[in-house]
Amino acid sequence: MRKALALCVAVAVCIVGCETGKKGRTIGFSQTGAESAWRTAETISIREEADKRGVTLKFTDAQSKTDKQKKDVRTLVAMGVDAIILAPIVKTGWDQVLQEAKDAGIPVVLVDRGIEVKDESLYATLIASDFIEEGRMAGEWLARKTGGTCKIVQLEGEPGSDPAIDRKKGFEEAIAKHAGMEIIASQTAMFKRSEGRKVMADLINAHGKNIEAVYAHNDDMALGAIQALEAAGMKPGTDVIVLSIDAIKDAFQAMIDGKLNCTVECNPLLGPLAFDAVEKVLAGETLPKRITMQDRLFEPKDAANLIKDWKY
Ligand code: AHR
Repeated sequence: MRKALALCVAVAVCIVGCETGKKGRTIGFSQTGAESAWRTAETISIREEADKRGVTLKFTDAQSKTDKQKKDVRTLVAMGVDAIILAPIVKTGWDQVLQEAKDAGIPVVLVDRGIEVKDESLYATLIASDFIEEGRMAGEWLARKTGGTCKIVQLEGEPGSDPAIDRKKGFEEAIAKHAGMEIIASQTAMFKRSEGRKVMADLINAHGKNIEAVYAHNDDMALGAIQALEAAGMKPGTDVIVLSIDAIKDAFQAMIDGKLNCTVECNPLLGPLAFDAVEKVLAGETLPKRITMQDRLFEPKDAANLIKDWKY
């Protein structure tokens, strides 16, 4: 009887203890900045999931500055958080700071963008889309749409970032199969709508009516480019084909309005998977080095139906 009672007490203590342990966790989140609607959606997803799980979230915003982001991670390490979720701005230069996190016993879960480090044990897992595949899907769609003949302007994302590198690679590989497809200009607009408008205005001045398509590495830059095309008296979606990546609500609206021709999904709602990964790693589990999100391609015919319940 006594033994049974002791067992019950032990189980109860364990349940309460484990629950408190989870709830009492402090997790750091180092975000790149707020350059796009996609990014804002990702931040909201992480914040909401932390609230749902009763986790204290220490949020840092690197404001698109690589040096600041390294400082942010060091601050989170100094705070002694239980784990760090990191959305890295750029791909390289992480060895030292992640070694410091590892030495402090703080696991790092990467979300959205990958990195190149000498020692892969510096991070637990990467939860992200396949950016090469996204670029390839866009390139193959454009080849189908144009019959393999097209003069293209490319608006690139942040230099050195995983999506800018891989979306360019995937797209260029896809169009290389078609002799009539040519990129006549390629410039960064930093994943930002305002930059997309400015850069596109310059490209219109330089190339004018030669531009037959605009491929932007994200929707925000495409939406900026649409504004520039309209300001120059051109009809985006008709005179010039516009395609991009992310699938934000504004992109669906632009497709409904006939100004955007296609967008490839990139899911920013990574909060649930990120915190699942954190819990597993803190429980001592080894995770696969990469967890890949499955993305789809959307055309104007899909937009009206999807926009109603779309989350970002
Ligand atoms: O890393 C994902 C990319 O970063 C998104 O496509 C873009 O909108 C963002 O800012």
